[in-house]
Amino acid sequence: MPDHIDITKVRNDTPGTREVIHLNNAGAALMPKPVIDATIGHLQLEAMIGGYEAADQAEAQIEGTYRSIGRLIGAAPDEIAVVENATRAFDMAFYAIPFQPGDRILTSMAEYASNVISYYQVAKKTGAVVEVVPNDESGQLSVGALREMIDERVKLIALSHIPTSGGLVQPAAEIGKVAQEAGVLYLLDACQSVGQLPVDVNEIGCDMLSATSRKFLRGPRGVGFLYVRKELAQQLEPPFLDLQAATWTSLDDYEIRPDTRRFENWEANIAGKIGMGVAAEYAMEIGIEAGWARVQQLADGLRQRIDAIPGCAVHDLGATRCGIVSFAVDGYDPEDVMQRLAEHRINVRTSTVFSTRFDMTARGIDHLVRASVHYYNTEDELDQTAEVLASIVKARA
Ligand SMILES: Cc1ncc(COP(=O)(O)O)c(C=O)c1O
Repeated sequence: MPDHIDITKVRNDTPGTREVIHLNNAGAALMPKPVIDATIGHLQLEAMIGGYEAADQAEAQIEGTYRSIGRLIGAAPDEIAVVENATRAFDMAFYAIPFQPGDRILTSMAEYASNVISYYQVAKKTGAVVEVVPNDESGQLSVGALREMIDERVKLIALSHIPTSGGLVQPAAEIGKVAQEAGVLYLLDACQSVGQLPVDVNEIGCDMLSATSRKFLRGPRGVGFLYVRKELAQQLEPPFLDLQAATWTSLDDYEIRPDTRRFENWEANIAGKIGMGVAAEYAMEIGIEAGWARVQQLADGLRQRIDAIPGCAVHDLGATRCGIVSFAVDGYDPEDVMQRLAEHRINVRTSTVFSTRFDMTARGIDHLVRASVHYYNTEDELDQTAEVLASIVKARA
């Protein structure tokens, strides 16, 4: 595996880098050419010979996606389901768990809104309870507190590896140890981590993991995947079944597939599925470790630049920090900062309390700017971003 990134090559592979300074990789990263070509190529084939016929012709490539995603996260191809996005992946696993009154669901302070909404919906319906594990002094989930909260009523530990809104990386493998020692199910939302840093389901010790294609993996939109450990997949009944997930075996009965594809449904974005597989191969070819080292270096550099501007403050938490940099500019609404940067073709986004209410409420924040780097960004791009931010601050003074 390469130990450094050939930045000229990856930028040549990425046409979008000639158009914009893209610091919205936590939203959707810029796709590299092999992904663009594979995705568009399949759409063109569909247009020329028909969608079903194109899928027949591309069967080997489609199957290849399961192998590539499996290899990326240390899973077998039949432990992967390809679905529409990370939320659908997470929900298919979460809603399959048979909760009883009094069962406890443990989650983190930095939890993503859609996950929390599903916890509370299930809690309301089943009598399960949702409990938030407190943070340690670094701002990550306290593994000690988690261990103390474990009892025989804990049914599930579920959390986001990296939150939507900041640089925190949760100690996923340490959490996995606690889950395994306690024999508790562990569902990891790896939406922001897959493609950004090494994610191995065996090292992490999770039973289920959800992720998306379009973010740090650099695949197309509208596709994601779910990993469920083989033996567990056979025990979990998906909340929805169709003729992909099950076979209609007699007039009044059906049989559910034995593998993780029981969480899929039949109609799918085939071009996206192929594109996601190519994105996984591309990520492994570039080198996940090398990409992660560069992402951390660039993000730390961006944090330093932002903190050096009077009136700007970084708000990231955690002992290990990733490519997401969250910050505020005194006297400016984060939306205005985003717009001003956009005028210079610099893409950032904002995060609000509606996406991470536990965390932002505890910190008394309701809105931040979110800049997220990938390995294809450059120091020069960060200098330009810092310059524009400094000019915004100056214009107000
Ligand atoms: C932490 C986290 N989990 C889950 C999701 C949902 O992913 P998707 O939009 O692919 O459903 C997001 C999206 O921003 C996220 O940031």
